[in-house]
Amino acid sequence: AEGQLVDRFGRVHRDLRISLTDRCSLRCTYCMPAEGVPWIMKDNILTTLELERVARVAASLGIDEVRLTGGEPLLRKDIVDVVRRMAAIEGPHGPLRVSITTNGLRLPQLMDDLVAAGLERVNVSIDTLDRQRFADLTRRDRLDDVLEGIRIARDSGLRPLKLNAVLLRGVNDDEACDLLRFAMDNDAELRFIEQMPLDAGHTWTREGMIEGAEILDRLSAEFDLEPVDARGAAPAERFVVNGGPHHVGVIASVTAPFCGACDRVRLTADGQIRNCLFARGESDLLPLLRGDADDDAIARLLRTSIAGKRAGHGIDDPGFLQPDRPMSAIGG
Ligand code: GTP
Ligand code: 5AD
Ligand code: SF4
Repeated sequence: AEGQLVDRFGRVHRDLRISLTDRCSLRCTYCMPAEGVPWIMKDNILTTLELERVARVAASLGIDEVRLTGGEPLLRKDIVDVVRRMAAIEGPHGPLRVSITTNGLRLPQLMDDLVAAGLERVNVSIDTLDRQRFADLTRRDRLDDVLEGIRIARDSGLRPLKLNAVLLRGVNDDEACDLLRFAMDNDAELRFIEQMPLDAGHTWTREGMIEGAEILDRLSAEFDLEPVDARGAAPAERFVVNGGPHHVGVIASVTAPFCGACDRVRLTADGQIRNCLFARGESDLLPLLRGDADDDAIARLLRTSIAGKRAGHGIDDPGFLQPDRPMSAIGG
């Protein structure tokens, strides 16, 4: 295959986000119900070799970066092997850059092996520093394990280390400043993410969501924030905190979408190509991977998917429909 993955709006796709599993060790209320969701059938989960093959074809089409997500990607038994194989794929500018977005629980066991396998960066989610709130919000009493995971990530030396937080009104929205101090203490860049309509229970409302502007107001009361320009295709609007060296970001996907600069394409754990978090449809790679299709057929399906990508997520459009699958099955 040759040529790049360019859509109708001229957006060149360089970032492949792979969901390795839809399962998770937490049950964040804004993501999953307590009982979980109907999981993807085991037989339909892509194998290590299938994942490697898709990434190799994607790299031949200009993808230079792979982000492993979930669910919780570290629940994959073969996670270290997946990272090693991805990091060995030759991309357009050298080996693929491989990063992970995780809830951090298994980092203490896995970090050294992941680094040795070629992992470049890790993002850890942490929404609250209060043990009871953490237990309520994630329905698991595991704040200490996440804190240990973050400590291990800090000590691993992989940089930049990023932390992700979703603020929920009346739950943890008073913790913005505490979370930022915590992140800086751990030499990490904190990003606040606006809650998106992607929860399994379809309970999202615009009024319930804490807007990026509100988060910046809260932070400005205690910190001096200087905007950084040159955002490129990054989802976060970034600020230098108190003159540096640390940064904080706001991912205002709803009120200030970055769709115009989006360079992302997704692969779900069951082999569906999605051209957007909010795409209405998917392109099924599974029959190609499990039949006798050649790499060109995989490349063609990737191109077809990108060709159908819409201009934006359309959350504000009158007929907006939340995707059929929750974020845990699409990939974060
Ligand atoms: P880096 O800055 O390179 O670490 O990447 P990232 O910000 O994409 O990393 P991460 O996986 O931590 O994503 C953070 C959050 O950005 C996700 O949890 C989503 O809320 C949001 N996000 C990621 N990709 C998309 C996307 O394609 N569309 C929208 N609207 N939001 C996204
Ligand atoms: N909106 C915004 N962020 C979400 N996440 C999970 N569900 C949502 C949602 N509906 C976040 C998690 C984690 C990252 C992978 O995605 O908090 O930080
Ligand atoms: Fe798990 Fe992430 Fe969903 Fe929380 S938001 S339940 S950590 S997949």
